[in-house]
Amino acid sequence: MVGYPKIRPRRLRQNKNIRDAVAETKLTHDNLILPIFVKEGISKPEEISSMPDVYRYPVGDPLIKFVEGNYSKGIRKVILFGIPSFKDNIASSAYQKDGVIQRSLKLLKETFGDKILLFADECTDEYTSHGHCGIVNYRGKQYYIDNDESLKVHAKIALSQAEAGADVIAPSSMMDGVVGAIREELDRNGFTDTLIMSYSVKYASVFYSPFREAASSAPAFGDRKSYQMDPRNANEAIKEARLDLEEGADILMVKPAHTYLDVIRLVKETYPEYPLAAYHVSGEYSMIKAAAINGWLNEKVAVLEITHAIRRAGADMILTYYAPKLAEWILEASPF
Ligand code: PBG
Repeated sequence: MVGYPKIRPRRLRQNKNIRDAVAETKLTHDNLILPIFVKEGISKPEEISSMPDVYRYPVGDPLIKFVEGNYSKGIRKVILFGIPSFKDNIASSAYQKDGVIQRSLKLLKETFGDKILLFADECTDEYTSHGHCGIVNYRGKQYYIDNDESLKVHAKIALSQAEAGADVIAPSSMMDGVVGAIREELDRNGFTDTLIMSYSVKYASVFYSPFREAASSAPAFGDRKSYQMDPRNANEAIKEARLDLEEGADILMVKPAHTYLDVIRLVKETYPEYPLAAYHVSGEYSMIKAAAINGWLNEKVAVLEITHAIRRAGADMILTYYAPKLAEWILEASPF
């Protein structure tokens, strides 16, 4: 005799209204952070060939229009990446008062005030001829990334970004002690309210490749494996996150996101009392874009499934190049 199942999970899936009512994960505009590339020496937005529909913006009206358009769609947080026309060994264009990122921050702060929360990516790779996230030194012929020399430069860059109007400094170099060095420099100069969102758990990932084309920041020699994390490690994320918290980070980040959902979950469960961001990176964007352009999958449904997965794993905020599209898609009926 076939009995009736007493418990029928399918009852809660039988129509969309029930599914929407019991959905455990929500994605709203508040969860989104929009990455923006600003480039010196151009007058019109430039499309990035490896990231269709993503542009580099000149400091000026096109940047304001882009942010304004996203603001009207509900985006309240942007993170800026600067692409300078001048590079040297010590990233001096990263901390000049009239540097590309400083001018962009100033312009957006003057235009939008506190309507937009302004994040600044803090690193040296876009500003150095060698393309590394710190200062390169030599022992004989062997180069190395000099951790403690790098801290001085990172602190200087962070301070100049705060002075230019950044609300949140986002150190992405993975140098040991960088959060502490920045916190101290900010506090010493009166920026005690400036937040730090640390790229705490950042892997040495192939999925940054399109970004490096976008920002001309590929290392000229070597790789980033001596400072970014090994993709085979998860527990080490706890150590990196703990150190950043001890040094004064306000918000943690895991990067990449889609490929590291387990790590997002681990960090959130270990430090539930801290806000956690996850970076859906350039390569994760371009993979979906390429498949969508070829008609191999439905872009909107794919992006909504992936971003909900990132939220489900435990991320409070998602940095994503899909933010402008998501801002529209999340207002429409969900595809689930
Ligand atoms: C470093 C930085 C990188 C990204 C964000 N900040 C590049 C890197 O570490 O090589 C990658 C973001 C992406 O791939 O979307 N300034």
